[in-house]
Amino acid sequence: IHRCVFYLLSLQETVVSFIGGSAVLPCSSKDPPHTIQGIGVYWRHSSQNVYGIIYGKVSVEGQDPEYRSRTESFPEEYMRGNFSIKLNNLQHTDAGEYKCYIIEESVVWRVKLLIKGKTLMIIYCAMPKTASC
Ligand SMILES: *[C@@H]1O[C@H](CO)[C@@H](O)[C@H](O)[C@H]1NC(C)=O
Repeated sequence: IHRCVFYLLSLQETVVSFIGGSAVLPCSSKDPPHTIQGIGVYWRHSSQNVYGIIYGKVSVEGQDPEYRSRTESFPEEYMRGNFSIKLNNLQHTDAGEYKCYIIEESVVWRVKLLIKGKTLMIIYCAMPKTASC
């Protein structure tokens, strides 16, 4: 899977991936959390509820069905302040801006996801009717 991450601004990033591929959407706090129970993070795509980490635990309550079983996070990274999520089996409709709200810090990360279609190489052969070769 080809994936490129471009750092535009400190809190704004662009991730490029492909239909059917996966992408890690970055979000991290500058100060690691003091306690796992103090962690509250919401991921949103427009008005869709993509992912939630409440009191340090993954919360599927209210998660949009479209994202169920296609999202994962990295619990072993939480105490390092890393609340990135991985989105699998990407669709065209997944493209757009994602926001990661870190409640304790009142910080919002904006991640722009660009999805590219599979590249098809079409080899086109034609021979004019009048060709004499
Ligand atoms: C957060 O964790 C993910 C998954 O292990 C990793 O790919 C990413 O580089 C980490 N980000 C930071 C800022 O450490």
